[in-house]
Amino acid sequence: MKGSALSQLGRRTAEPPITWLMREALVRPGLISLAAGFTDNPSLPVVETREIMADMLRTAKTGQPPLQYGTTAGDETLRKLTSRRLAQLDGRPAKAKAYQPSRMMITHGSQQLLYILTEILFDPGDIVLVEDPSYFVYLGITQSHGLRARSIPMEDDGIDLAHLEATLEALKQSGELPRLKALYLVSYHSNPTGTTTTSAKKAGALKLLRRYESHAGHPIYLLEDAAYRELLFAGEDTPSALTMDRAANRVIYTSTYSKPFATGVRIGYGMLPGQLLTAALRVKGNHDFGTTNFLQQLISRAVSNGAYEKHVQVLRKRYSKKAAAMVRACREQLPSSAQWNEPNGGLYVWVRMPAGVKTDLKSNLFAAALQQKMIYVPGNLCYADDPTRRKPNREMRLSFGSESIKNIEEGVSRLGRALKRVIQ
Ligand SMILES: Cc1ncc(COP(=O)(O)O)c(C=O)c1O
Repeated sequence: MKGSALSQLGRRTAEPPITWLMREALVRPGLISLAAGFTDNPSLPVVETREIMADMLRTAKTGQPPLQYGTTAGDETLRKLTSRRLAQLDGRPAKAKAYQPSRMMITHGSQQLLYILTEILFDPGDIVLVEDPSYFVYLGITQSHGLRARSIPMEDDGIDLAHLEATLEALKQSGELPRLKALYLVSYHSNPTGTTTTSAKKAGALKLLRRYESHAGHPIYLLEDAAYRELLFAGEDTPSALTMDRAANRVIYTSTYSKPFATGVRIGYGMLPGQLLTAALRVKGNHDFGTTNFLQQLISRAVSNGAYEKHVQVLRKRYSKKAAAMVRACREQLPSSAQWNEPNGGLYVWVRMPAGVKTDLKSNLFAAALQQKMIYVPGNLCYADDPTRRKPNREMRLSFGSESIKNIEEGVSRLGRALKRVIQ
């Protein structure tokens, strides 16, 4: 039969590029994947998790609640503990409006929340502002929903505010501002560039969005994705945009227990303005009417008995060493005409190749790297489809999350060999 029964969304949704990269890593023995966003395997909290689970299931009284359905918004204790911790990180009193547990929802990873937020805010053809480059799975969601992306170039300390202003002005002039709903920032040790957005830039962005709201005719939200916030291994934490949102009505904050505890558990959370929370909970009600209760209670216990905090400290040390090894290997193995950042948190090093060297999946460099048995995430995959600029094609994301230090060094050395072949 020729026709397809798929919906527009079903037809529109492209295969996530990362699926192919992950498959490659599994089917090619000996391949070193500096592409995967997986976390450090040996430090996953097996013992702590076993102890908590044994404790949870010790008696019928303790075991029954986690084995039962929970609520759509999520476990009350976990929401309290998480919002208190968030207030602490931001240096604000737990009773401040922005940190009320009633504003929080727990989701199946923060990925689910990003998806639900897209569903409740955007119609096909609506506009989202994204960092250039941005988190490619979020770009996948926006592509799937038929959104138009406008990208804002990055500087060392976050988006270029002058460019943001020019983009808002252009949308105002073209009459498209009513289609703009949100600015999405991966504001801590970003995926893919490792950049942390300063407080000043967050405040500046929020101010600009507010200034243009009257022309949009509705709120324009700042969606702050803080997935890597806790993986800070040097310097000070930066306050979130929640601290700048006095009426607690313009900032959406999303984060996760995946990266700082266990990626397999996939407990994410978000703080939402009231109107959005109501809509998001209704949609989540239709998705799954609540995140796995058992796993929420596991995290809740890990936070309250201190295992979580201890684990975060362990991870910070490990990632600090891995990041240093990757940067050192880049310095030793790549030519001085290549550039990279030195991350102080997160999981990624963003590398810019010498002029003229392309990095996309069809490039000579990618083929040479594969021949050397290493893969990276081509940088062009992290750039939104934005007709107002050409996609750069000379960067790559290297992850130091899952491979051992030895493999990180070997992987970068293989990349260096591949690069030599391409530019010789
Ligand atoms: C920037 C960013 N946001 C959100 C997520 C989603 O993570 P999770 O669904 O495990 O919370 C990821 C995962 O890699 C990410 O890199």
